[in-house]
Amino acid sequence: MSKAEISCVHLVYFSPSGSTEKIVRKIASAIKGPEVKIHNLLPFAARQKQYSFGKNDLVIYGSLSAGMLFTKAEELFNCLEGNETPFIGVISYGNAYYGVALTEMKERAENRGFKVCALGAFIAQHTMAPEVGTGRPDAKDEEIMLDFGRRAYEKVLAGDYNLENQPGTNWSSSEEFNKYIAFRETNKDPYCFPLEFRAKKISDDCIKCYTCVKNCPTNAIDIENKTFDLEACIGCYGCINRCPQHAINSTSPEVTGFMQGFIDAFKNDRLEPDMFF
Ligand SMILES: Cc1cc2nc3c(=O)[nH]c(=O)nc-3n(C[C@H](O)[C@H](O)[C@H](O)COP(=O)(O)O)c2cc1C
Ligand code: SF4
Ligand code: SF4
Repeated sequence: MSKAEISCVHLVYFSPSGSTEKIVRKIASAIKGPEVKIHNLLPFAARQKQYSFGKNDLVIYGSLSAGMLFTKAEELFNCLEGNETPFIGVISYGNAYYGVALTEMKERAENRGFKVCALGAFIAQHTMAPEVGTGRPDAKDEEIMLDFGRRAYEKVLAGDYNLENQPGTNWSSSEEFNKYIAFRETNKDPYCFPLEFRAKKISDDCIKCYTCVKNCPTNAIDIENKTFDLEACIGCYGCINRCPQHAINSTSPEVTGFMQGFIDAFKNDRLEPDMFF
């Protein structure tokens, strides 16, 4: 193990509703000294560029887990290139399960030339169901994030790229929902939210501020005509949660039905972060 010198910490994240970004920033705040650069992969244009990192860079990467590592995960990693670059990987999930998200993240990061030093799964309020994981991450989570950041950075500086404990499949407390995880374990194609779940409408409360348009990862919103390209939409819920007027709402009865079962199954648990060093 040879010691590493880090000159720049890069915060790289895909965070439709903002929780993953907060988590990545909190973890990074435990690291003092190096310059910090931000790479927000949410806008479509940001993912058309290539980001190359060297041995003296540290990447702290965060993505939401939509049950699994989010759809387009392959695409997210395709714009990143490590050159033996130390990597701290984080997923946020909505207090239910993260399935194979961390194992997929590790595999993809290694395939792109990164050296994974630490991985963490942190809980955030569910962006489709605020009744689940309400108020997370909270002060207790933030303490854990700071500790995670400190410990992970110590490993990076020591040049220690061995993960003593490896992430496995994270099963949920519900047999009903575990079938989705079991499916994902064997099906490695990029996960995509079903088309019928993506239906939305924009109400007359819209003030054309363009917040939703600028933050839509797939340029799926036509605000002039108040329509969505549902084939392009990945169902990330960013537009719904970021609209200052609350003018965007799901119109999918399938989502309502599915989420009621989800809320009943997971609203009473309090899950804690999982960390792998
Ligand atoms: C389409 C979709 C599916 C999701 N599926 C799950 C899930 O299966 N399990 C879970 O715990 N959270 C799930 N979530 C919740 C998000 O992972 C969680 O709220 C996340 O922290 C949001 O991150 P963001 O604020 O950075 O967008 C899902 C969210 C979306 C939008
Ligand atoms: S964020 Fe809301 S108010 Fe702003 S343009 Fe989109 S729908 Fe309209
Ligand atoms: S239109 Fe779809 S992809 Fe775009 S922000 Fe809204 S939910 Fe996400």
